[in-house]
Amino acid sequence: MIVAIDGPAGAGKSTVARALADALGLVLLDTGAMYRAVTWRVLESDVDIHDAAACASVAAEVQLSFDSVGIVVDGVSREQEIRSRAVDQAVSVVAAHPAVRAAIVPNQRVVAESGAVAEGRDTTTVVFPEADHRFFLSASARERARRRASQRGDGESIEVILADIQRRDHLDSTREDSPLKRGEGVMVVDTDGLSAEEVVSKLLDSVRGASA
Ligand code: DC
Repeated sequence: MIVAIDGPAGAGKSTVARALADALGLVLLDTGAMYRAVTWRVLESDVDIHDAAACASVAAEVQLSFDSVGIVVDGVSREQEIRSRAVDQAVSVVAAHPAVRAAIVPNQRVVAESGAVAEGRDTTTVVFPEADHRFFLSASARERARRRASQRGDGESIEVILADIQRRDHLDSTREDSPLKRGEGVMVVDTDGLSAEEVVSKLLDSVRGASA
């Protein structure tokens, strides 16, 4: 079974997808982590993030997999490195290169071969348009900034995080290749005012209800 969860930055996709994967006994496919890993490797290698061809060669060469902690890049667990501020700031640019996406999407389908909960923008529209269940989590930009702030707990102001979220929303929804959008037939779940548990239970009801 493939469950795809789409939505903008900070809508709670990661938390909800992890809980859903556990509940359903499926692999968690964090597609954003794969773009973050490529971006991390690009920055480490001093490659220009605006150089599409150079970024695409990095994406084609890097070996990505997942262990119980998270992403593994060329055999080394890099879950912490890919969440850095430098990666946050560069990832939308790297992920917008069509050649980078073309190199990464087939890997995502391989990871999900035996079933998965796949999370990330474009998972419901491009990567798994035929998924058994497709959800789009939405939340206001301010609510998403509040969640990011409490997740990080590093004292960064909500206003700064909000500005970054708005910048990424704009980049992610206006890029030409696979922009963030609500696909047809995708169930939209407005998460404002709902806890992660409440969102998970809504999604589980929908998955179980549909297969009952
Ligand atoms: O969900 P996240 O914040 O880890 O995603 C990091 C970046 O990767 C985000 O700016 C958009 C990009 N991304 C993408 O383009 N396609 C995906 N399927 C997942 C993430």
